[in-house]
Amino acid sequence: MSEMAPTLPTSCGSMPLQGAPIRPEVSKDARAVWQGQSGSPGLAGKVVLSAQGLTKRFTEGRLDVTVLKGVNLEVHPGETLAIVGTSGSGKSTLLHLMGGLDAPSSGRVELMGKDLSALSADRQGQLRNQHLGFVYQFHHLLPEFSARDNVAMPLWIRRMAPADSEQVATSMLASVGLKDRIHHRPAELSGGERQRVAIARALVTRPACVLADEPTGNLDRSTADGVFELMLQLARDHNTAFIMVTHDESLASRCTRRFRLMEGRLSPWE
Ligand SMILES: Nc1ncnc2c1ncn2[C@@H]1O[C@H](COP(=O)(O)OP(=O)(O)OP(=O)(O)O)[C@@H](O)[C@H]1O
Ligand SMILES: [Mg+2]
Repeated sequence: MSEMAPTLPTSCGSMPLQGAPIRPEVSKDARAVWQGQSGSPGLAGKVVLSAQGLTKRFTEGRLDVTVLKGVNLEVHPGETLAIVGTSGSGKSTLLHLMGGLDAPSSGRVELMGKDLSALSADRQGQLRNQHLGFVYQFHHLLPEFSARDNVAMPLWIRRMAPADSEQVATSMLASVGLKDRIHHRPAELSGGERQRVAIARALVTRPACVLADEPTGNLDRSTADGVFELMLQLARDHNTAFIMVTHDESLASRCTRRFRLMEGRLSPWE
């Protein structure tokens, strides 16, 4: 098992999400995860995640591609940020750098005020597990685990007791409309259902910030709207910040801020 919260799939089905309860009933121990340490109740006005002068150049083998040429971004609690850009413009690369999954060629990323590059791999992993959630462009659910266990994984990594982890994971899955699918493995779920498992997994630790790479990219219109609405609701209810890469301009228009990544630079986009 990697030290980082395992990744989950990113596609979805068509069960109703809007209005789903987001406050699972959990035991006292489990409740510790849901209170106090996540989201950002005490972070008003602070910066959750920032990128400063980020550049990324790939130079493996015969390749020499500079994808990012100085990206600056500050993310505050509860903000929903949309990043649009053409295929190959570097959106996934940027999210990977901001999530500490890859290192920049220059510049720095700070998570909760801490420079990621100054931390050991273990400490980086802990900080990510504590404060970040990821929804990847291509799903990375662990195929041999059930939906519930995939969602419980970040809690196990935090050493929450298995029974509590399962309880919290089950509640989280119920909140994305998958109460009746908790024992299904990824191969036994629709693409949209997998996407929702991925979102549940990204949110189960109540992170301060979620990085989502085209979280609705494989979904039909109504399911995409439902998943998106769920994320906006979480942002409102828990002060969770979201950075979403999307090709969907109508969804981007519902975010609090929008950016376009073009020629290695990020600029506000209205
Ligand atoms: N490991 C790598 N080595 C070399 N080049 C890479 C590597 N990863 C990405 N690239 C290149 O960087 C560019 C940006 O890739 P990235 O995946 O960030 O694009 P994207 O904006 O997410 O595109 P899409 O919308 O298609 O997902 C691409 O041209 C890609 O070929
Ligand atoms: Mg991408």
